[in-house]
Amino acid sequence: MKSHILTITLNPTVDYCTTSDRIEPNVKLRCTEPQIDPGGGGINVARAVRLLGGQATALVAIGAGTGAHLLQLLALEGVPTVAFQGPGETRQSMSVIDSSTGQQYRFVMPGPVWEEHDVPRALNSVDQATTGDTLVVLSGSQPPGVAKDFPSIMADHVAGRGSRLIVDTSGPALFHLAEQRRDSLYVLRMNDEEGEELAGRPLPTRADTAGFARSLIDKGVARIVIVARGADGSVMATGDGAWHAVCPPAPIVSKVGAGDSFVGAFTLGLSREDPVEECLRSGVAAASAATMTEATRLCDPDLTAKARRDCVVTQL
Ligand SMILES: Nc1ncnc2c1ncn2[C@@H]1O[C@H](COP(=O)(O)OP(=O)(O)O)[C@@H](O)[C@H]1O
Ligand SMILES: [Mg+2]
Repeated sequence: MKSHILTITLNPTVDYCTTSDRIEPNVKLRCTEPQIDPGGGGINVARAVRLLGGQATALVAIGAGTGAHLLQLLALEGVPTVAFQGPGETRQSMSVIDSSTGQQYRFVMPGPVWEEHDVPRALNSVDQATTGDTLVVLSGSQPPGVAKDFPSIMADHVAGRGSRLIVDTSGPALFHLAEQRRDSLYVLRMNDEEGEELAGRPLPTRADTAGFARSLIDKGVARIVIVARGADGSVMATGDGAWHAVCPPAPIVSKVGAGDSFVGAFTLGLSREDPVEECLRSGVAAASAATMTEATRLCDPDLTAKARRDCVVTQL
């Protein structure tokens, strides 16, 4: 691996996943022993990188007792972690599968509210953990209280240290990033819904998605723009061209973690200096593999390798 990978998680969670016979109101719902996992965008990207044979350091904001629990879970998973003090107490999330229907109910807490003075601490921790050509990944929802320009500020910080930033975000932060020319952002990735919201129009065909991704490249928003197309894979545009990659359709078990698996595999490819269209192939294969396993599992390495062999990459 030529470049080191650092993932950032401002709003991590301790995820509890359990099953109940039937979900109904006003009664005690007896649940099975939960599976407990560390979660949050950046943490999942680091776990995906590790599953695929690479190594990434997770930089995580933690708070109070649940923060300590999170660190323990990360240590058990073998994910190298750098922690810094975030506000309040690290959040918990809960998903419950109703075994009579197979439906999954996901309860997601907002996480502690950030104050203005928490942001410089995060930037400082990133500065300290970034050396030379580090690939820094900012993925997952912004905590409440963090301003929409945070990813833009982060891009300037990271580029100022000679490193590269990969951002997967949504909502106001995504809109803010897409508003202006920004030589400091290396990769901007979004899913199909986020792309259509940002474009302000539906993107039904690959050509539509590619046209939109190219328009962001032409505006100078990032060096590489990736827009997912659900089961139809992903489109990538750079200054040199545009590509589409897709894997053959497979039955969906759970889409949870597919986006983070994409980002993990794509970034691992970048760190190995693979050609960028091969990084796209790896990302699409890992996302596809993640949809084939249950919610708590990310990209299984064998399924990813098979999906990669079957993945079709086309220059547009
Ligand atoms: N049915 C499917 N088959 C294969 N890949 C899929 C399917 N649905 C979604 N994907 C891929 O999974 C990824 C989901 O990304 P995203 O929506 O960001 O996920 P997340 O919920 O983890 O944020 C995308 O790369 C998308 O192309
Ligand atoms: Mg996503």
